[in-house]
Amino acid sequence: MNMPLIVGNWKMNLLTDEAVVLAGGIRDFVKSLSGIRVVLAPSFTLLSEVRNVLSGSNVGLACQNFYFEEKGAYTGEVSAGMIKDAGCEFAIIGHSERRHLFGETDALINKKVSCAVEKDIDAILCVGETEDQRKTGKTFEIIEQQVCKGLDGLKRQDLQKISIAYEPVWAIGTGENATASQAEEVHHFIRKTITDKIYGNGISPLTILYGGSVTPENCSELLANKEVDGALVGGASLNIDSFCAIINAAKSV
Ligand code: 13P
Repeated sequence: MNMPLIVGNWKMNLLTDEAVVLAGGIRDFVKSLSGIRVVLAPSFTLLSEVRNVLSGSNVGLACQNFYFEEKGAYTGEVSAGMIKDAGCEFAIIGHSERRHLFGETDALINKKVSCAVEKDIDAILCVGETEDQRKTGKTFEIIEQQVCKGLDGLKRQDLQKISIAYEPVWAIGTGENATASQAEEVHHFIRKTITDKIYGNGISPLTILYGGSVTPENCSELLANKEVDGALVGGASLNIDSFCAIINAAKSV
């Protein structure tokens, strides 16, 4: 099992002053902790300032998205080289908000995962079913499709640079988290899909995060599950007390 990974996805929130205070507080809290990896994913405009705050600390930096082309006429986009240049070691890819609000397809997401690996950036590939898909019994079909298409063409050694985040769409920002047993079931299915359908046995341990309404109240139970290697936290990562409580819980389980 890998070290627990706790990622704060700040989404489209915070201005520079707020981000600097929050990142500084998290950096100071995490300073003396070992055996856990904490990563912050601010918006593009905050990367430079947050990088300065985190410099020399044990808190990593992630972007929430990037575009797979190297450079050129792609107005409004940011390349993997640029996010690496801005200090990102991690990239969140294929978040459900990108899929559903901005029309990202599995094919596009796959190009981004390949590009991240090529640039030596740790990819966090997000997958998850909608409420409707769960209700109509399509959860596993959807997850299999998103995992297989997202990893298409990637080699088994590339998995060392890839984590998966299971984020059921119905749990994101709703206050209704998946139960530990729902998360366990899907995480187990993801591991099985990756071995049975893609790489076969003998792959290195894969980090699978859970995301969707993670709070200080529900995180211990979720993180105590052997299938859950960490959390991708949205709303609760914007508050120093709640995010540090989640980090603490991950450290203690
Ligand atoms: P919430 O924690 O706000 O539900 O968001 C989850 C998420 O989308 C993290 O990427």
